[in-house]
Amino acid sequence: MTNAIKNVEWAGLQFAVGPNTFQPRASSLKLIDFVQGLPAWQQARRPRLLVDMCCGCGALGIALFLSQLDAFKRLLLLDASQDAVNSARINLTRYNLPGQSIRWFAGDPIDVQEEVFVVCNPPFMRFADVESDTQNWEQACLTSGNDGLEAPSLCLQSCVGLDGAFIMKSRVDQLKPLAGGLHQLIQSTTNSDVAFSYWGLNQGHQNSEAT
Ligand SMILES: C[S@@+](CC[C@H](N)C(=O)[O-])C[C@H]1O[C@@H](n2cnc3c(N)ncnc32)[C@H](O)[C@@H]1O
Repeated sequence: MTNAIKNVEWAGLQFAVGPNTFQPRASSLKLIDFVQGLPAWQQARRPRLLVDMCCGCGALGIALFLSQLDAFKRLLLLDASQDAVNSARINLTRYNLPGQSIRWFAGDPIDVQEEVFVVCNPPFMRFADVESDTQNWEQACLTSGNDGLEAPSLCLQSCVGLDGAFIMKSRVDQLKPLAGGLHQLIQSTTNSDVAFSYWGLNQGHQNSEAT
């Protein structure tokens, strides 16, 4: 396996990306800009635990953690793919960061007692949107059901009961269905058909169709 690990530069950092692991994309750099422009990010006091859901090699969480070394105490990198978890672990060690890289499936609860700052770049494309010759592991990184909504919804579901902020990359047309759900959509920005959104966790928001 070691021979198959490549080094990839992203956000000015070098990341190990092992086999069957998603390589961070230039389009996700805008997620970092979005996060850094948020009031929740600029507040002097913010959650000490940074969680990267669907972390791949961990680039997003690690880049954000390193940009705010005085703010965060711990980094949790979560992904369903064991290959991705292995790559993320190498990168945690490479940058000597406090935290863990753990296998986790969207929808699983996050067992923490403290406020969290969650960043999430889940699979959100429709099956129909990817080339038919895309390899299975890469399809699993990119697509989530016929409408691409399954993983984004499940990631929000995983945050039920947590306090803090949740930041996600998704398609623009997914914001509306997701916003009728479990958490409050506070702010979003769009770039072509991609949206970056900021959700408040556990703020007493109720589904408009709930009683
Ligand atoms: C679009 S990639 C993003 C990777 C990384 N966050 C980035 O920005 O480069 C989506 C990631 O979600 C993971 N994933 C796919 N389905 C998942 C699920 N049901 N639960 C948890 N992770 C999942 C994939 O293994 C992949 O690493």
